[in-house]
Amino acid sequence: MDNLHAKQEIERLTQALNHHNHKYYVASSPEISDYDFDKMLLELQKLETEFPEFAYPNSPTKRVGGDITKKFETIIHRFPMLSLSNSYSREEIIDWENRIKKTINAPIEYVCELKYDGVAIGISYKDGKLFKAVTRGDGTRGEDVTTNVKTIRSVPLELEGDYPADFEIRGEIFFPLAAFAKMNDERRAIGEPEFANPRNSASGTLKSQDSKVVASRGLDCFLYGVYGEDLDFESHYEAVIKAAGWGFKIPLPEKKYMCKTDSIEGIMEFITYWDEHRATLPFEIDGVVLKVNSYDVQQELGYTAKSPRWAIAYKFKTERVETILESVSYQVGRTGAVTPVANLQPVGLGGTIVKRASLHNADQIEKLSLHLSDSVYVEKGGEIIPKIVGVNESLRPQAAAPVQFITNCPECESLLIRKEGEAQHFCLNEKECPPQVKGRIEHYISRKAMNIDGLGSETVDLLVRKGIIHNVSDLYDITFDQLVDLERMAEKSANNLLQGIKDSKNVPFERVLFALGIRFVGETVAKQLAKAFKSIDKLANATFDELVAVDEIGEKIALSVQLYFLDQDNRKIIERLQAAGVQFQVEEKAMASNLLEGKSFVVSGVFTKFSRDEIKQLIEENGGKNVGSISAKTDYVLAGENMGPAKFDKATQLGITIISEEDFIQMIGSKA
Ligand code: IVH
Repeated sequence: MDNLHAKQEIERLTQALNHHNHKYYVASSPEISDYDFDKMLLELQKLETEFPEFAYPNSPTKRVGGDITKKFETIIHRFPMLSLSNSYSREEIIDWENRIKKTINAPIEYVCELKYDGVAIGISYKDGKLFKAVTRGDGTRGEDVTTNVKTIRSVPLELEGDYPADFEIRGEIFFPLAAFAKMNDERRAIGEPEFANPRNSASGTLKSQDSKVVASRGLDCFLYGVYGEDLDFESHYEAVIKAAGWGFKIPLPEKKYMCKTDSIEGIMEFITYWDEHRATLPFEIDGVVLKVNSYDVQQELGYTAKSPRWAIAYKFKTERVETILESVSYQVGRTGAVTPVANLQPVGLGGTIVKRASLHNADQIEKLSLHLSDSVYVEKGGEIIPKIVGVNESLRPQAAAPVQFITNCPECESLLIRKEGEAQHFCLNEKECPPQVKGRIEHYISRKAMNIDGLGSETVDLLVRKGIIHNVSDLYDITFDQLVDLERMAEKSANNLLQGIKDSKNVPFERVLFALGIRFVGETVAKQLAKAFKSIDKLANATFDELVAVDEIGEKIALSVQLYFLDQDNRKIIERLQAAGVQFQVEEKAMASNLLEGKSFVVSGVFTKFSRDEIKQLIEENGGKNVGSISAKTDYVLAGENMGPAKFDKATQLGITIISEEDFIQMIGSKA
């Protein structure tokens, strides 16, 4: 493709992808399929790699993440980021409104909004392009998290319509409950501790050094205020509605997320509605926010030292009920982690009947000093399962016995182990303990792993109980006769299942690696390992140092990988899977060139045109080799910004050529 054509194509794809992104994530009315969207994104990624000079800094490919922020820069806010004064009763709202009426002698209009429970963000736009995203910090200065915020799909990178040339928009970044639950499911699956609540997780995620982590988490953002000099609107409501026209996700009046009213009755109606309905929202709120609509009136009312007089937050009381703890049961997960669950006397909470509450681990039981038959306080937070937040000790029956964490596995009776410094108890009998055996098989067949159609959890249970399968390699020996003998298995289903098992032999290596269920090896880590080692044999023989040299692989993961391959049973399973035809190596893509053949590179620092992963990929695609640390055998050190001085000194001492990103692009010529 020639330059002119490439430039036009990049522009076309960028615009189209921005448009479809908005349709999907902001307007919730997609015009094309996910498949077509991904195809266009891939096309753009390819063109940007080939013609980086035409890539837009705000390209939709930035949504995928990959840029690393070592240290978030401190930025002084152009307009201080104030907080709101809080109130906890309707009387305080009435007092607030009376104070306003004393100063303003005219009818007043209010805007009622939800108080999203997330992290405040200020995003500035220059000439319609996202310029900077800064956290609240201490209100005067915050941290520059632009790279991370760019991965949040509902935040527009480029605006449309008649937006002001220079302005800042403020809002709240939050974890939608579904995305939060999905993340915790994934963490549970690989044996990582779950996150406790959406708010703190949103805040932690936003500060991730790797923007790919942010991209994968599914954060969302609602915008609630426009700031700038000489803006062309007269009221807050008008500004927010206009912002929707520029491409922002705003709280929709038709969903009752925001409304205008001119009376205290209207305000109270809004409060009552959301106090009753907040459990139905797909995200968490901790109250509502009331604002005077007119900018002129806002100015007249002014500010106290910390907050505006023209706005106030009304915080909901978290609904809490009291009920009796009847017993504690224990669940064993795929990784052997044991989780205590409280069985409660059924009680109504937030519109549902609650019978169970999560207790997390032994520390939690101890902290609450929980006794059987205790009267406990239960609250519903972000988690689907409610939690016990306290005990009413005055109602404790005299003979009540303290809850003792079990010593043996409830499923296989092996002694439970709790490693020093870890909160969770584990059953180490991974080969025999039924939920662990079944859990590993269920993980193997799951959609994101081998995606074996027609094999649900109940069938796995039957197959394990009948002794037909003991581990994942047995799946490939199942016969038609064995299946039709099972209860409720029709011939058609049996055939479907056998076909599903057969099809799984085409699943690429990276997913097979994920499917094996090595502790701490989630989807992303599996991808990195597959890319770095290319085959199971190389991975199995990798040294600890070789493992930690791979991006995103820390000591904990490296150790877990090595332990997995030390186990002869695991090796046998892999041998049998291999014999069955399952993919255990990366299918090599055609090489772009052999310009770098025989040359080894150490890539270090941050780059402007490519992410570090992309550079490493380019090295390999052009025949070169990536190595983790500098030695006399290294040919080139490819240095980006922020390369550490120690690396620089070592390369200089050994006389290794240090090249820049530009030099590298020239080296691979038109292939960049
Ligand atoms: S307006 C000067 N509106 O609540 C007023 N804030 O202490 C600026 N928040 O961390 C804030 N929902 O991020 C406003 N609809 C809403 C809000 C909201 C949540 C957060 C805000 C800040 C805190 C205020």
